[in-house]
Amino acid sequence: MRTALVTGGGSGIGRATAVALAAQGAKVVVAGRRAHTLIETVKAIEENGGTASHVLADVTIPDEAARAAGATVDRYGSLDTAVNCAGLPSWGLTADMTPAEWEEVVSVNVNGTWLCMKYEIEHMLRQGGGAIVNVSSRIGPHMRVTHQSAYAASKSALSTLTRSAAREYIPHGIRINAVSPGPTDTAMAVWPGETPADRDDRVARDIPAGRLARPEEIAAAVLWLASPDAAFVVGHDLVIDGGLSA
Ligand SMILES: NC(=O)c1ccc[n+]([C@@H]2O[C@H](COP(=O)([O-])OP(=O)(O)OC[C@H]3O[C@@H](n4cnc5c(N)ncnc54)[C@H](OP(=O)(O)O)[C@@H]3O)[C@@H](O)[C@H]2O)c1
Repeated sequence: MRTALVTGGGSGIGRATAVALAAQGAKVVVAGRRAHTLIETVKAIEENGGTASHVLADVTIPDEAARAAGATVDRYGSLDTAVNCAGLPSWGLTADMTPAEWEEVVSVNVNGTWLCMKYEIEHMLRQGGGAIVNVSSRIGPHMRVTHQSAYAASKSALSTLTRSAAREYIPHGIRINAVSPGPTDTAMAVWPGETPADRDDRVARDIPAGRLARPEEIAAAVLWLASPDAAFVVGHDLVIDGGLSA
């Protein structure tokens, strides 16, 4: 893993993944829309002796997704690992959502991830291989909850996209997999109307393991899927949820 791109690398699971990839020696580019959070991730990596930089990109805009996918190639010479972590939650009963709310979440979680994959795969085809890990969710492909149907639909589509593309590109040496986290200790895991304490009570009640995942635990799975140790793992969607969907 010489070089890596992490979309959504300015916060949460994306930041933990970028830091972990850099700790293993990868030169990392983090992508997202907010410069200050991306710069904080870069600083954290550099303080650990790693190499990183950021690119401002909204993954739903084709030129910006292409710029993100090309950034490690331009700066560090290749794109060995791409982690597509940028994502948005949704909230509301199915019939109560507005068309704009529906479109925003589907646009980021499905279209944005597809756009990034499209340009990442083009670079990986040219260099003769690579690994892509998409960050999906247990909500949707593995378990349903109320008030999150747009998010669930988008993550189900993302898991299916992952597996379809995995079949297409493994003959070219590009391994594509996904992780599907359960509730993880980031801003996204606090639901509307909840305090962090409410969230902790809900999680302790619902999750057999009795706690949230740490972002670093999701990052560890991403790193394994991207590593040569997972060379025969293709089109897998790895659930990491403390037993919630077991
Ligand atoms: N936390 C959980 O419980 C949980 C569970 C299952 C799955 N996940 C998934 O894990 C991933 C990371 O979420 P997180 O929990 O770490 O929450 P988070 O801290 O809110 O991270 C989401 C990231 O996505 C980026 N992003 C959103 N829209 C974007 C866009 N249009 N273009 C580029 N970047 C965009 C955000 O950066 P900017 O705002 O700077 O663009 C942010 O860094 C998401 O795909 C989420 O669905 C999370």
